[in-house]
Amino acid sequence: MSRINRRNFFFGAAAAAALQSRVGAQSANDKVRAGFIGVGGRGSALLRGTLTEPDVRIVAVCDLKPDRLDKAASVASRDNPKTFTDYKKLLEQKDIDAVYIASPCDLHVEMAIAAIQAGKHVYCEKPAGITPESIARLIKVVRGAKTVFQIGQQLRSYPHIREAVGRVQAGEFGKMIMVQARRNSSSDLDHDASSAEWFFDARRSGDVIVEMSVHNLDVCNWVVDSRPDWAAGVGGTLLWVNDPPGRTNMDGYSLTYEYANGIKMSYSQLFFHPRTLPAGGQFIHVYTDKGAVDLMEGTFHSHEPKVEPVQFVKPAEERPERDAHIQAFVESIRTGKKPPADITIAATAALTAILGREAIYRKQVMRWKDLQVEV
Ligand SMILES: NC(=O)c1ccc[n+]([C@@H]2O[C@H](COP(=O)([O-])OP(=O)(O)OC[C@H]3O[C@@H](n4cnc5c(N)ncnc54)[C@H](O)[C@@H]3O)[C@@H](O)[C@H]2O)c1
Repeated sequence: MSRINRRNFFFGAAAAAALQSRVGAQSANDKVRAGFIGVGGRGSALLRGTLTEPDVRIVAVCDLKPDRLDKAASVASRDNPKTFTDYKKLLEQKDIDAVYIASPCDLHVEMAIAAIQAGKHVYCEKPAGITPESIARLIKVVRGAKTVFQIGQQLRSYPHIREAVGRVQAGEFGKMIMVQARRNSSSDLDHDASSAEWFFDARRSGDVIVEMSVHNLDVCNWVVDSRPDWAAGVGGTLLWVNDPPGRTNMDGYSLTYEYANGIKMSYSQLFFHPRTLPAGGQFIHVYTDKGAVDLMEGTFHSHEPKVEPVQFVKPAEERPERDAHIQAFVESIRTGKKPPADITIAATAALTAILGREAIYRKQVMRWKDLQVEV
């Protein structure tokens, strides 16, 4: 059976002043000096995205694997970065202002805390963490720091999603009652991807819901403007059993969430949804008393049978020249503006995914308070 690449993803003033005083924004003439920790699939993409930022210089790259390190150094050869295999040595460099962390998920909290404690601004790939306890530690350190922390939940910077969320929240399409979201694929994750060595191990990835669906669940949290109160669900490794050998992450699950503000949600992710069957791919449908909004497509569908669907947001640009999320991170460092995906957003999204995962693993209703984390 063919396998797809899992990167096939969506194409889909007062606060600023307050943060500015915390962060101590950089002078407009200074370039942000950046270091990269983990330059595999995602780290390389972030590196390329950062090279197009006029106000950033790449001063260091770090990876355990020499071939990846060489490749990253050559991609960033314009800036002649230093190379490291030990991330702690990179963090000791005084000429680094900001680090991008794109290591396997189980290392995010340890690396992000070390980076913040070394006085660096941090762009950390999602998920913020894979256990409630480690996320609680990260929240404490980030909130006590003067530097910027941004999570790699880049959908928060997509203009078309931002506009759609804002208009739904403003009540333009009626009163929200329920959300149905899906992330379906017709085949399993790419077994040859660079991340395959850790991704299929749930203890390292946090399982597929935490590693991948954290993006989708974050957008659900965003549009609902709340966090779940409880979750219940079923799932497991249903088709791709022991494939690849030793696999412990799930390939199919379905969850019910109820939000603290009363909105109901149904969420599921399958890696065995045939290509020709409707409702494939990814979507977030927001149901209201007037109809339903397809959030990612920016369309409204009325309950009135004779009313045609309306495209209310221009669809996403396929390949924008600059990466809006990276741009936002650099802007936060330079101006003190609040980042679009801060620690509260990061922690809430990761905990939403963990809540669902634990409900499935334990076969019981999991309540937000059971996680014992103050977000
Ligand atoms: N935001 C997104 O859309 C997106 C997309 C893909 C992946 N990700 C996230 O990015 C992270 C990396 O994913 P990936 O697909 O690039 O994985 P990957 O395996 O391709 O890359 C991870 C890299 O980290 C390196 N590494 C591991 N331990 C290290 C250590 N101690 N010090 C330095 N380097 C170390 C590995 O050698 C590897 O090169 C994951 O958390 C993943 O969830 C985010």
